[in-house]
Amino acid sequence: MFPIITHGSSEDALKALRDNGAAILRDPDRTIDEFVSFTDEFVDADPYHSVATGERDTAGAEGTNIATVNKGVGAMALHRESSFLPTQPDVVALFCERAPGRGGETTVCDGVKLRAALPEELRTFLEHEVLVWRFVMPVERWSVIYGTDRPEQAAQRIKELMDRFAPTATYDFAFTDDNELDGTYRAPFVSPTFWNGVPAFSNSLLYWYHNQGPFIAKRLHHVTLSNGDRISADVVEAIEECAEKLTVGMDWQRGDIVLLDNSRVMHGRRAIVDSQRRILVRLGRYRPETTSSV
Ligand SMILES: [Fe+2]
Repeated sequence: MFPIITHGSSEDALKALRDNGAAILRDPDRTIDEFVSFTDEFVDADPYHSVATGERDTAGAEGTNIATVNKGVGAMALHRESSFLPTQPDVVALFCERAPGRGGETTVCDGVKLRAALPEELRTFLEHEVLVWRFVMPVERWSVIYGTDRPEQAAQRIKELMDRFAPTATYDFAFTDDNELDGTYRAPFVSPTFWNGVPAFSNSLLYWYHNQGPFIAKRLHHVTLSNGDRISADVVEAIEECAEKLTVGMDWQRGDIVLLDNSRVMHGRRAIVDSQRRILVRLGRYRPETTSSV
C-alpha cells in the first residue's frame, strides 16, 4: 500500500507523487472546499467531458471542475484517466465525502512495478507495440474539454496539449460533417513516467477489455494494435493476471484525498455495495512552478 500522510502539506503530496506515484492524505475534518484549495496549490483543474453526456454529475461549487465518479455500481477495470485524449490529466485527485461501509474500494496499481513484473516475452512485445485508440466525440464532449465549440480553436488547443507528449504519443483528428471530433491517439503500451522517465505500463487496455454497463460510452471506442489488429485476449489476460497481484484497494475514510500520477499509477474500483459511498474526482495538470520546486 502507499504511505498514508496525516494532515500533510502540498509539498508532502508532491514528494509522494514523485517518489511513489501516489499520495494518500488523511484528515477526517477536511471539507470539499479544502479539497479544492489543497489541489489548487499545484494543479490546474480541467472540466470532465463525460459530465456533459450524463455519465457523471458535477459536484462542489461552480467552476471548481469537480465531478462524481462514473455512475453505476459495477466494478471498473484499471485505467489511465483519459489515456486516449490530449486532455489526459497529470494528476487524478479523489476526495472521499462519504466512505462506504464495505465494498467500493478504489483500486490502484503501480505501472512501474507492473511493467517489471510482466513475463519477459510479453514485456518485450508490449515495449515494441503501440496502443491505437480511436474515440469519436460528439460536440457536447469536445466543446467541454477544449472550452470552445469552434473546430479551429479546438484544433489549436489540441496542438498545444500534444506538445507535452511528443514525440512519444500522437493524435490524428478530423471534424466530421456532424461536427464530431474523430480522433486517434497512438501511444506505446509502455511509456516514461512524468517525474523521472521510468518506463511504466499505464494505459487503459484493461478498461477497454472489460468496459461494460450503461454509463460507459463503449460504442465510441475502437482499440487496436499498430497494424489494425484487435488485441488478443491472451495478451490482455496475461497482463491482468500480473496486475491483480500488484493491485491494492483503497480503504476509504471520510476526508481522505488520494492523488495519483496518471503517467504511472492506474486506478479502478471494486463493485459498489453501499449506496452511501460518495467519492469525488478532480483532474488536472501540474502547475510548472510547483513541479520545479520539488
Ligand atoms: Fe477513472
